[in-house]
Order: sequence, then structure tokens, then C-alpha cells
Amino acid sequence: MSAALAGRRLLVSAGPTFEDIDPVRYLGNRSSGKMGFAIASVAAERGAEVTLVAGPVHLATPAGVHRIDVRSAAQMFDAVMGALPCDAYIGAAAVADFTPRAFAGSKLKKVAGTDTLTLELVKTRDILAEVAAHALRPALVVGFAAETDDVATYARGKLERKRVDLVCANRVGVGATGFESDDNALLVLGPGGFERALGPAAKTELAARLLELVAERLA
Ligand code: C5P
Repeated sequence: MSAALAGRRLLVSAGPTFEDIDPVRYLGNRSSGKMGFAIASVAAERGAEVTLVAGPVHLATPAGVHRIDVRSAAQMFDAVMGALPCDAYIGAAAVADFTPRAFAGSKLKKVAGTDTLTLELVKTRDILAEVAAHALRPALVVGFAAETDDVATYARGKLERKRVDLVCANRVGVGATGFESDDNALLVLGPGGFERALGPAAKTELAARLLELVAERLA
């Protein structure tokens, strides 16, 4: 087993976030957390000291990984910031972009004579961008981009806008890759036109190949 990441501190976020509307309802997304958990697992095998901030998922904690469970984007933000400093942050979580402005303390009821319900949503804080701009910025910040179309263009935009070092783009909503699947295909983009296609392959295999790029950049 390679110890390419021996002694390195990796912080990984994984899974969806759930934004509560009332005591029984939430806004969520289809992220399974498998990609982030695979990264955490392989990084630990390669000797890294790994903290995994996990949204609500049904996955076992990988061996040797320190796991912090959270539910909402705000909780994920606090857990990630609280886990700095580290050598590399890999933001594989599908963080909600919006959350309800107010939590309704009791279950929202249907109102007679009204066929619509308006929920007011406010933007969440961008964890990835704030890690990249933090005084304790890790040496390497890696983001993910799940897009349904024009994957490379949107992902390259994210690289520059969020000032991260690598963006892993995956196309979701097509075939047997992306959310919920055990397989995936990534297009890894970096500054200076760096571009590397990984897969399609099992998420554990993709994690291993992505971590080779991480290890090279931390060396
Ligand atoms: O802009 P978009 O949400 O598509 O960017 C995805 C990347 O940004 C992922 O790495 C995700 O973990 C991160 N992100 C975040 N905080 C948010 C929204 C997205 O860290 N509030």
C-alpha cells in the first residue's frame, strides 16, 4: 500500500445537506456521499490523517477516518471551518445553495381556498469559496462540479470564481454515473489549461487517481 499521503491532513466533505422547512419536511438533493466517502477511505489507506464532514447519508465510516456528521449547509460550514487548518480540502459535498429563510416550528398546513405555497429561500454560504479565501487556506483546495450540460465550461468558471486549485466535474443525470451510482467519470480541471479525464470507473478507483493528483501537488 502506497503511503503517498503519509502525515498529510485531509479534510473532506461528502453527501447532501438537508435544509429543514418544518419539523417533518426538508429540501434535499440526490447526493449519495459515495464519492466523498471513497476519497476519505483511500486517503486514509495512503497514510493521510482524514477528517470527513458528512451530510445525512447511509454509509459506514471508512477505517481510520474521523467523521463529523451534520445535517444542514450551515452546520457543514461550521464543521468544515472548525476542522481547519489542514493540507488539503476536498469539497465533494452537494451543499444546498438555498435554505428556507425561516424554520416553521409546527407543520405547515394546507390553507383552504389556496392552491399555492410560497417558500422564501436565502442563499447559503459557499463553504468551498470561503475555505479558498480563508486566512488558514489549505495548500490545496479541490471542488466538485455536478452539471447536467456544458460540464467543462461551467467547471472552468468555478475554478476561477471560487479560486480553487482543482475542480472535478461530473455529468449528472445521464446513464449510470453521477449521483447514487457506484461508478462515475470525472473531468479534472486546473489552472493553466490543465485537464485530465478520469474514468468512467468505480468511485474508489477514481478516488485513488484523484488522490495521486493531490499527492503530486502537496509533494
Ligand atoms: O457552485 P456549485 O454549488 O455548483 O459548486 C459546487 C462545489 O462548491 C462543490 O465542491 C461544493 O461542495 C461546493 N459548495 C460549497 N458550499 C455551497 C455550495 C457549493 O462548498 N454553499
